Amino acid sequence: MPLFHKKKRAAAQAPAPAHIAIIMDGNGRWAKKRGMPRTAGHAAGAETFRTVANHCKDIGVQYLTVYAFSTENWKRSPDEVEGIMGLLERYLHEALERMTRDRVKIEFFGDLSRLSPELQALCSRVRELSRSFESVQVNLCINYGGRDEILHAAKTFAARCAAGEARPEALDEETFSGLLYSAGIPDPDLIIRPSGEQRISNFLLWQAAYAEFYFTDVLWPDFGPAELDRAIAAFHGRSRRFGGVV
Ligand code: IPE
Ligand code: IPE
Ligand code: MG
Repeated sequence: MPLFHKKKRAAAQAPAPAHIAIIMDGNGRWAKKRGMPRTAGHAAGAETFRTVANHCKDIGVQYLTVYAFSTENWKRSPDEVEGIMGLLERYLHEALERMTRDRVKIEFFGDLSRLSPELQALCSRVRELSRSFESVQVNLCINYGGRDEILHAAKTFAARCAAGEARPEALDEETFSGLLYSAGIPDPDLIIRPSGEQRISNFLLWQAAYAEFYFTDVLWPDFGPAELDRAIAAFHGRSRRFGGVV
């Protein structure tokens, strides 16, 4: 018994992974189980996100990247899409109000040009005003797709070549990484997907190369600090070799 206790304490005290990424999935099923509309599930999911982001800040996670809306999620009903955009807007207004107290840096991954001009302006303000904050950095993935991100980077590099500013043979992984939305941010150490699905759904395709994956059946609105701690404990039990031998 005392040995188990010691082991548990050691895991709890191990430093948190520097970069955690989460596919916030299961909102719709959570609502359906309760006979509620899907948008109610998204509202509950937004609450979970607030709680989990605070917990990440408390335990010293440096980067938290969350998948909020994919390039494929436009297939959903206009009502649902509007509901999600409304929740994002509300969260960003709130973030602006508490920004100087929270000191959370907020960045965006995704093609924001398809969002309403109001939401785009709000994203720019949040990004600008939180730029110098040094607490956890939250990367909100909105209209994000891993393939879209890679294509965008490839087009940027091709344009540079066409303009005579770059040479194709000089392209390396570091240069290409620098053209992604995640430029300058280390790859995720741990990718969490709740809701029982075991797939990547176009999330961080390039950056996930050596991430550890954690899947759980818990639906995102029911996810919380204890579940995050379990994911981190599982992460600490893994042996990361990056292709080498340990
Ligand atoms: C994730 O929850 C939120 C978004 C994709 C925007 P879902 O809405 O996909 O929930 P399920 O998968 O239908 O339960
Ligand atoms: C992934 O969830 C996208 C987000 C959580 C934003 P989906 O619900 O869209 O993924 P699939 O359709 O089940 O693969
Ligand atoms: Mg889903």
